[in-house]
Amino acid sequence: MEALYGGAMHRRVTILDLAAAKKRGEKWVMLTSYEEMTAAIFDEAAIPVLLVGDSAGNNFLGLENTIPVTVDELIPLTRAVVRASTSAMVIADLPFGSYETSPEQALATCTRFFKEAGAMGVKLEGAHVKTIEKLVASGIPVMGHVGLTPQALHQLGGYRVQGRTDGDAIMEAALAIEKAGAFAVVLELVSAELAGKITAALSIPTIGIGAGVNCDAQVLVWTDLMGLTKNPPKLAKAYRNLRAEMLAAASEFAADVKSGDFPGPGQTFN
Ligand code: KIV
Repeated sequence: MEALYGGAMHRRVTILDLAAAKKRGEKWVMLTSYEEMTAAIFDEAAIPVLLVGDSAGNNFLGLENTIPVTVDELIPLTRAVVRASTSAMVIADLPFGSYETSPEQALATCTRFFKEAGAMGVKLEGAHVKTIEKLVASGIPVMGHVGLTPQALHQLGGYRVQGRTDGDAIMEAALAIEKAGAFAVVLELVSAELAGKITAALSIPTIGIGAGVNCDAQVLVWTDLMGLTKNPPKLAKAYRNLRAEMLAAASEFAADVKSGDFPGPGQTFN
């Protein structure tokens, strides 16, 4: 089995690669991506897993949070990310309302993501055991998501650290998701201690976001990573300040046009 990093993958990453990485103790990352530019860049950076998250709602589509995003909105985004990448495994996030009614509803939604967009796996929030079993039995790799599940924002009373008093329930949910056949599970906004315990208890990889350093992998929303988000969550680290860069570039362009410095000789045709 090839290492996830340290050489170009000449094929897509699979769930077997991720399972092998856990066995080796090799940490890896997942990034969100919602369109072809970032997908191509992150693929070139050998990011093994790209998530077309429902966070596209508040980071791409101008919505308040992830809840209103629809399958019809996410399918073209997923298709673009698949087309622009060659080695990343591309995961489609199942939006709120597209999988909770029944395993059959979930399978129908996944079928659309697989057939119309080319997704290679799906992520869903919560311990929907019967649904995960059905999807896995149908050949669909499933990533779970426990802790803070943003689709349940109103039920949880906001973006708050989870598991402070019910850590056992989160552990049980993660174990149930693994037993149902999921290949990985996201742990969002839980203490590093709880995430460490869950990571040790599971044989599938845990992917942390605001869950400390003890997870097998880490995920960030790409606009947070690049410093584009105006009010980033505390769990994120901005590795660049693209917001300031883009603001400056747009202002300079406008000023150059006003002063007559753009277009210059290099952009002018005779
Ligand atoms: O939609 C998303 O971006 C996510 C990640 C934060 C895990 O669910």
